[in-house]
Amino acid sequence: APPRRPRHFLELMDHDAGQLRHMLDLGVRAKRGQIDGKPLAGKSIALIFEKPSTRTRVSFEVGIRQLGGDAIVLSAKDMQLGRGESPADTAQVLSRYVDAIMLRTDDVRKIRELAEHATVPVINGLTDVSHPCQLMADMMTFEEHRGPVAGQVIAWTGDGNNVAQSFIQAAARFGFTLRIATPPELAPPAQLIDWARREGARIELTSDPHLAVDGARCVVTDTWVSMSDERDGGPSSRHNLLAPYQLNAALLKGAAPDAIVMHCLPAHRGEEITQEVMDGPQSVVFDEAENRLHAQKGVLLWALGLA
Ligand code: CP
Ligand code: NVA
Repeated sequence: APPRRPRHFLELMDHDAGQLRHMLDLGVRAKRGQIDGKPLAGKSIALIFEKPSTRTRVSFEVGIRQLGGDAIVLSAKDMQLGRGESPADTAQVLSRYVDAIMLRTDDVRKIRELAEHATVPVINGLTDVSHPCQLMADMMTFEEHRGPVAGQVIAWTGDGNNVAQSFIQAAARFGFTLRIATPPELAPPAQLIDWARREGARIELTSDPHLAVDGARCVVTDTWVSMSDERDGGPSSRHNLLAPYQLNAALLKGAAPDAIVMHCLPAHRGEEITQEVMDGPQSVVFDEAENRLHAQKGVLLWALGLA
C-alpha cells in the first residue's frame, strides 16, 4: 500500500468545508480552555522562517508550548536550506527528528516540495500566494463578532495578494460572498477565481472599492507591499496604484453600519488603512491577531491526529 499522506495544512482548498470547520471548532474549544491536558506532550515541531514574522512566530511557539509540545524556531538563513540544501532533503531529515514542520517561505514551490517529501505534517505559515492560518483566525474573529460567516458579505480592498488569495479559498469553503476591489494590474489570479466559482463560491471582482464595500458586513485590507514584493523592489508604483483603495472613514461609511474591519497586520497607518479606521470602534484587528494563537491550536491538533 502507498504510504499514507501526512495531514498537511498547505492550502484551504485542500480541505473540505467539514474538515476546516472541525479545525475551527477545535480552535474555539482551545480558546475556551476546553482542551484537556497536554495533547502535544512529547512532540517537537520545527518552525522555519525564510521571512520575518511577529504573530506567526510567537503564536505558534506559545500555542505549541501551551499544548505541552516543544517548538524549535529556525531561521532558514541559519539552516543549510538557506544555502541551497533542497526542501526535499530538508524534509526527509527533519521528518526523522520532529513531529511536524511549519514553514514560512516566499516561494510556494518550496513548501510543496517540502510536503511532498516529509513524512510528518507540514503547515503553511505564509507563502507568496497564500496564508491559510491567517484565514482560520479571520473566520474565528468574524464569527465571534458577527455570528456564522456563511451567507455574509466580506469586502477586500487593495492588493490581490497572498492573504486575498486565501480569502478566495475561504469564500469557497466557508460560504460567504467575497467582493474584491483591486487595481486591474494587481487582481488575484483568474485561475483561482475560476476554481472558487466552480466550487460554488460567490466572488465579485471590481476595480471600484466603493462598489465592493457597499453594505458589506466586514471590510478587509492588507499592506500595499508584501514581503514577496520586496523581491522586485517596485514599492512606489504600487503605492500609486493602490492609493485609491485605502481603507478610510469615507470608504467604510459605505459598508453596513455594524461592519467590522480586519487586517492581518503588520499595518501601515496612513497607507492601506488610516489611523482613524485602524484604531476606531469597528476595528477588530487585535482580536484577529490574538485568534492566530487559538485557531492554530485547532490546526495543530488536527494535523497531528490528536483530535
Ligand atoms: N499576520 C501575520 O502573519 O503576521 P506576521 O508576519 O507577524 O507573522
Ligand atoms: N501580505 C503580507 C502579509 C504579512 C503577514 C505579506 O505577505 O507580507
